[in-house]
Amino acid sequence: NKPRIVVIGSLNMDIVVETSRFPRVGETLTGEHVHFIPGGKGANQAVAAARLGGQTTMIGSIGDDMFGKSLIEYLNQDAISTDHIKRIADTPTGIASITLAESDNRIVVIPGANAKCLPEHVQALEQVISEHDIVLVQLEIPLETASAACELAKKLGKTVILNPAPARKLPESMLKCVDYITPNRLELETLTGIDASGDQLQTAMEALLEMGPSCVVTTLGEEGSAFLRTGESLVKVSAYHVPVVDTTGAGDAYNGGLAYALAAGYALNEAVVFASKVSAMSVTKLGAQAGMPTQADLNKLSIQ
Ligand code: RIB
Ligand code: NA
Repeated sequence: NKPRIVVIGSLNMDIVVETSRFPRVGETLTGEHVHFIPGGKGANQAVAAARLGGQTTMIGSIGDDMFGKSLIEYLNQDAISTDHIKRIADTPTGIASITLAESDNRIVVIPGANAKCLPEHVQALEQVISEHDIVLVQLEIPLETASAACELAKKLGKTVILNPAPARKLPESMLKCVDYITPNRLELETLTGIDASGDQLQTAMEALLEMGPSCVVTTLGEEGSAFLRTGESLVKVSAYHVPVVDTTGAGDAYNGGLAYALAAGYALNEAVVFASKVSAMSVTKLGAQAGMPTQADLNKLSIQ
């Protein structure tokens, strides 16, 4: 039986512009390439889990336009169930304007239809959600919807992974329904109000644990990741070092990898190493969804 993962979250069309450097304020710059690549944290995480071998369902909203149609087609190529993605009339599909330059990215997201993904939509899908092992949620849909998703999943006895991105404060009522929360340092700081940049990392993770989740997994970019469970000590896992092409979606690859591994029954320490590997592999290719690896890709990765 395949591990079953349901993702409740966003879908965007990423408009990726490659240029040699970022433009200055008021400057018009001629860049090199433009790509239209499927993205959105929710859909990216769904693709990551599906390519690894998960049976994956995506719940979310798109607009009534060409981008929305195209995003569904991409998900279907990875055999992701799109039956519960709602098409919203008179609303554009979400987009992200991404500029890649100087080995870095700058992103502006216009939520569009993602902002109209409402709690009722999720609440009506109790049966669908109950057919999965893991429920994976992010914050690119309205907070009430993300919160309703966590609450329903908890009620159904599912394992809930919340990727609290983009960063924002969250109510404890929501955090109490979460099993695994996966912030990066900035999100951890926003959630706890504690500067998590240096040796305060553990203090901040402890504070977040106090707020409800049973486990905090912090992604640390090139430093790898760290996890903390109630009553245990902090465990650090180092990152794999790979040639970086595009870091867009690296966190999504990590979350999709973690969800797949936990659904497949890996122990947490193994799941975190696996997620790091998925994330490392994803940054070697351009594009968020386009760069998500398969198990075969992971086997090819010669890593250090
Ligand atoms: O996490 C990466 C994603 O964030 C991109 O695909 C973009 O759509 C933004 O939502
Ligand atoms: Na990538």
